[in-house]
This record gives sequence, structure tokens and C-alpha cells, in this order.
Amino acid sequence: MIMKIAVLNGSPKGEVSVTMQYVHFLQLRFPEAEFEFFDVALKIKKLEKDDKAFGEVIAGVAAADAVLWAFPLYFLVVCSQYKRFIELIFEKNAVPAFRGKPAASLSTSINFFDYTAHNYINAVCDDLQMNFFGSYSAEMNDLLKTKERQRLKAFGELFMKAIKDKTPAIRNNRPLVAPEVIFEAGQITPVETEGKKVLIVADDLAENSNLQKMVERLRQTFSPAAELVQLKDIDIKGGCLGCIQCGFDNVCVYEGKDGFIDFFNSKIKTADILFLAGAIHDRYLSSLWKCFFDRSFFNGHTPFLKDKQIGFVISGPFGQIHNLREIFEASMAIQQAGLNGFVSDDIGTSAEIDTALQSMATRAVAQSKLGYIPPPTFYQVAGNKLFRDAIWSRLRPVFQADHRYYKKHGMYNFPQKNYKWRMINSILVGLTKIPKVRKEFIKRMKKEMIKPCANALKRTE
Ligand SMILES: Cc1cc2nc3c(=O)[nH]c(=O)nc-3n(C[C@H](O)[C@H](O)[C@H](O)COP(=O)(O)O)c2cc1C
Repeated sequence: MIMKIAVLNGSPKGEVSVTMQYVHFLQLRFPEAEFEFFDVALKIKKLEKDDKAFGEVIAGVAAADAVLWAFPLYFLVVCSQYKRFIELIFEKNAVPAFRGKPAASLSTSINFFDYTAHNYINAVCDDLQMNFFGSYSAEMNDLLKTKERQRLKAFGELFMKAIKDKTPAIRNNRPLVAPEVIFEAGQITPVETEGKKVLIVADDLAENSNLQKMVERLRQTFSPAAELVQLKDIDIKGGCLGCIQCGFDNVCVYEGKDGFIDFFNSKIKTADILFLAGAIHDRYLSSLWKCFFDRSFFNGHTPFLKDKQIGFVISGPFGQIHNLREIFEASMAIQQAGLNGFVSDDIGTSAEIDTALQSMATRAVAQSKLGYIPPPTFYQVAGNKLFRDAIWSRLRPVFQADHRYYKKHGMYNFPQKNYKWRMINSILVGLTKIPKVRKEFIKRMKKEMIKPCANALKRTE
């Protein structure tokens, strides 16, 4: 019997997608399987409005022996259109079509936080009670390499076998438990903003919800009160199309066609302190929040939130979704912004949430006044190197605006440009081949390591 695989295409570019070429590769290698393609990201507006069209996709999933989630990486996760499709599965009660079905995920990307996207899809599959086999993250040029084609073929073989054998999944995510606390604001200690511009951007502010009360509490904490903008009030015509025309001069194809870019440039870029507020939908915030991040891509791979203080206000089981915390921590680190914390309504009692909001407000202003940004951790150090190498080489023809920025801001900090160390290395490495010198080198190593610090300690600035 022919094995049917439903491919849920998560590229907003539909068939003209790099990711789909990887699926076609599998299709050619496994003629015994029938691949049916559903361009769910491209057609999201239709699927949202037209129940018949949505029903056809779900019928395709129900009739398939397995599901392949195939998508490009968008801002550490999947694109907002794909995210919306996932929300629709739950909203339109389509979960039974997915339940028990074998599933795998396949992405293409430049390997920047690819695993967080796969963690997300894995968790969604677990929530749908699918039989999640595993994930495959291809670098977008992998298909050109023999070894990588062999690797992808092996993954395909293993997946096909798991489908045939009905291999049970190793479940990685427990079901989420929503917090039960009802938040009531406590006594506010006003925090003077001292000229700092404070902006709260929010989605999901349902009347009298925890999120709405938390946001209002935070807003009123500042003196003068912070400005509040709701994402639903911004004229956003659609999600990022992945056309990357913005790469040349940071001009988005939506420019002049909707209000997002104006909002971003006039409100987000001018704020000193920014709070992002939203409610958990599946394993992320809303797809509208995802759209906000995707659409900010018109700024390319530059740190457009650099030096801002950022905090998060979240309603829902945030503490159980470590992947989401990592996504936001990494996003802010790569932006060179100061993260002031996450306050969610699952951190404790109403009083504890209240105290946390007060602390976050106080910290944001204190850090902003000092211009304090934490030192870079692995996320920023590694992320910058990845972008640096990609923009310097094969991404440069498309991302020319990034190239100009990286050049101007000294971000092409390749180690081979460090001539002093190149010279020291060539001498020292040679010398340590002599047994006597090596012995002396080892003897002195600890002391020599702290010598530069000892000199720095003498400085007064
Ligand atoms: C808005 C946007 C966001 C992206 N975010 C990421 C990312 O977070 N990590 C990454 O490695 N690649 C990222 N990429 C690169 C794409 O994932 C990559 O080019 C992919 O191969 C495109 O596949 P597609 O042609 O199937 O849409 C992003 C691209 C766009 C347009």
C-alpha cells in the first residue's frame, strides 16, 4: 500500500521555497511514498476565513499516514503565518486529525537558533498528541553537498521505517497547566522616568484579564505613566513575505501600504525602555506577536534594539516553556539590549507578581539611566559570529545594508585581522616545540595568565 505523507509547507513563498526543494529531494528518493503538499503559510488568509479550504487541509492530514512539518526558520521559530495555522488547528477543533499520527519536522535556515524552532514544533506535536519522530535542520545550502544529501536521505529512511513500524514517540513535553492565580494590583511606588521614554506594546489585553491588569499596573508605576500601544491597533496588512527585498536598503515591500514600519520607526526605535506584553498561545505568544518580530526583519541582521531596556509581561504557563524564555533571552542578547526580566502570572501569588512588576520597573529606569547593558553571553557572542561570517560571504549580495552596517560598526572583527596575536602565536607555538621551553612555559602559565589583569587593576578609570 502507498504511504501518504501530508507536507505542511511553512514558507510564505509557497512552492518557490528553498525548504520545499528539500522535501522534493525526499519525494524523489522515496517513490514508494506519496507526498501531498499544503501551502498553509502562503494561504493563511484564505484558511482563516474559508472553513471549506481549512477543512480540505485537515482532511488531507486525516487521510495521511504521517505529517511532515516543513518550514523555514523565521526569528528563531516559524513564520507568523505558520504559527497562525497552528493556532487555527486548536481554534477550529481540528486536533483529532493529528492525534496519534507520526510526524517529523524539516527546516532550512542559516542555523541561527534553528533548534528553538524545532523544539517549538516538537512541543506542538506533543500537544496534538502526535507521534513525533524527530527533527532535521538543514542549512539552506546543504542540498548542494553530497554528504548532506546522504544525511537527509538517511533521515528520510529512518522516518519511513518509523511510520511503517508505528514506532512510539519519545514525548519531550508535558501538557501545559494554566496558572489559576487572579492578579490584583497592589500599592504602587511611583518610579520617576527622568526623561526616559517608556513604551508598553501589548497584545491580548482582554478586559479584566490578568494581563490587562498587570500591564495597567506596570503602566501606572511610571511617573509619568508609560505609553501603551496595542498591536491590534496598528494597521498590519500581513506577515513577512520572505521576499528579502529589504536586504538592499532596509526598505520593506509593505512600506507605504500599511502602518507597521511607521509605528516601528517612530515608537519602537525611539523608546528607551520597552515592555512587550502578551498571553501564551500554544508554545509561544500570539501569532500577531510573531508577526511583529517577523516584520521587524526590514532592519536586517542589525541590532535595532541596541541599548534599550526590555522587559516582558506574560500571562499563561510561561515558566513551563523554557524554549520560549530562551527565544526571548537570545533575541534580546543578539539585539544588544538590556533584559530587565520576565514577569508572568505563573510566578507565584498576586502579591508576588505585583512586587515583581514594581522591581522590573525600578530596574529598567536604573539600568537605562546608567546605560547599563549586560556583557554579551554565548547567545550574542556566537550569534554575532554566525551573522558576521554569513553577511561577509554568501549573504552579502542580498543583505547589502547589513554589510554597510557591519563595516561601519566594526562588526567584521575576524580574528585573523589581529596581527599582534598572529605574530605572538607563530613565535610561541614554534618555541613550545622545544622541550625545555615547553617545561618553562607550563611552569609560568598560571602567573602569565593573570599578568594582564594585574596591569589592568592598576588603572583608575
Ligand atoms: C523574516 C526572516 C527571518 C528569518 N529568521 C531566521 C532565523 O531566525 N534563523 C535562521 O537560521 N534563518 C532565518 N531566516 C532565513 C530563512 O530561514 C532561510 O533563508 C530559509 O532557507 C528560507 O526558506 P524558504 O525559501 O523555504 O522560505 C529568516 C528569513 C527571514 C525572511
